[in-house]
Amino acid sequence: MIATSRNTSFLSTGLRRVLGSRVVAAMTTPHGVDRYLELFDPTWSVNEVRAEVTAVRHPTADSVTLSLRPNGNWQGFRAGQFVRLTVEIDGVRRTRCYSPANSAHATDGKIELTAKAHANGFVSRFLREQARPGMVVTLSQADGSFALPEQRPERVLLISGGSGITPVMAMLRTLCDEGHAGRITFLHYCNAARDLIYAEELAEIAARYPNVELLRGFAASEQCGELQGLFNREQLAAAVPDYAEASTFLCGPPGMMKAVQQLWAEDGIAERLHLENFTAAPVVVDSTNAEGDVRFARSERLAANNGATLLDQAEAAGLRPEAGCRMGICHTCTCRKLSGRVRDTRTGQLGEEGEEDIQICVSVPVGTVTLDV
Ligand code: FES
Repeated sequence: MIATSRNTSFLSTGLRRVLGSRVVAAMTTPHGVDRYLELFDPTWSVNEVRAEVTAVRHPTADSVTLSLRPNGNWQGFRAGQFVRLTVEIDGVRRTRCYSPANSAHATDGKIELTAKAHANGFVSRFLREQARPGMVVTLSQADGSFALPEQRPERVLLISGGSGITPVMAMLRTLCDEGHAGRITFLHYCNAARDLIYAEELAEIAARYPNVELLRGFAASEQCGELQGLFNREQLAAAVPDYAEASTFLCGPPGMMKAVQQLWAEDGIAERLHLENFTAAPVVVDSTNAEGDVRFARSERLAANNGATLLDQAEAAGLRPEAGCRMGICHTCTCRKLSGRVRDTRTGQLGEEGEEDIQICVSVPVGTVTLDV
């Protein structure tokens, strides 16, 4: 039975099975069954996870926290994992990765996502400025190996910087909900106290749970936090003398991640450090067999194809398309290909001719390609 309440937005499993059948697919060709379901409720879908924004908060001047009510296709997440969120902006679907910050045991069925609006962050700025209750977004299922292990470690060290706080916040909230008895130390670095997302809740948790210690470092005002200056060995040894014994979970800006990784490697305890392990197949640039041109239609530029990824070739042509991970994970670089064929550097697979959305950080042109860039 189709749920009639817009607030539940769930299709029963049986109905989803019927709607997902080949017969219904044939009957609803070419639009697909979801297009018809959307007429009743934009969150209804046979397979996609769609979620309605139920609340919007602005915890700091440049961030936004969304409460989302996903439809019945959502399968839940492990604290630390990420989802790909897709929104349509000016008729173009844009996808970015965000980590749910709520406890994995939240009983209200909602997902909480917090995005920091970077100057060049097209989607994060859109969410910061435009997200309203009632807006519907599309989500992937949760993904990523950065997550609390099923067997919870006794001693936990959480380290985050800036907006990297969200997956470790999910871990902290989850462990607190579970009544975790082991010691948890939470190190967080950001520019200033006013930039600390979840500041009040963190202070409340530290006051309420005697096994949780909160240590904050503010780069722009060193006098305010418990940690002075940026992350370094002396500071860590003084603040968390038993860090080598802890299972450590890390998420933050690249500089901080690198410094922490280096220290754990120097101490021979790298296996105790967990971080989002984004790895990409190396891109082999075959300039000898590269043929054709790369045409950047919107900016009216043309470059001889040198065999590198389209992102690299765009940047070499003086363009600045949005990019994040540069390894096919975050979808930040997704652009419309207007014509031509590309090869996916991760799989070696040759794509179709003609229009499609492609991730230009992991696509190399095969012959002449035109991008809507
Ligand atoms: S997928 Fe992240 S930049 Fe391309």
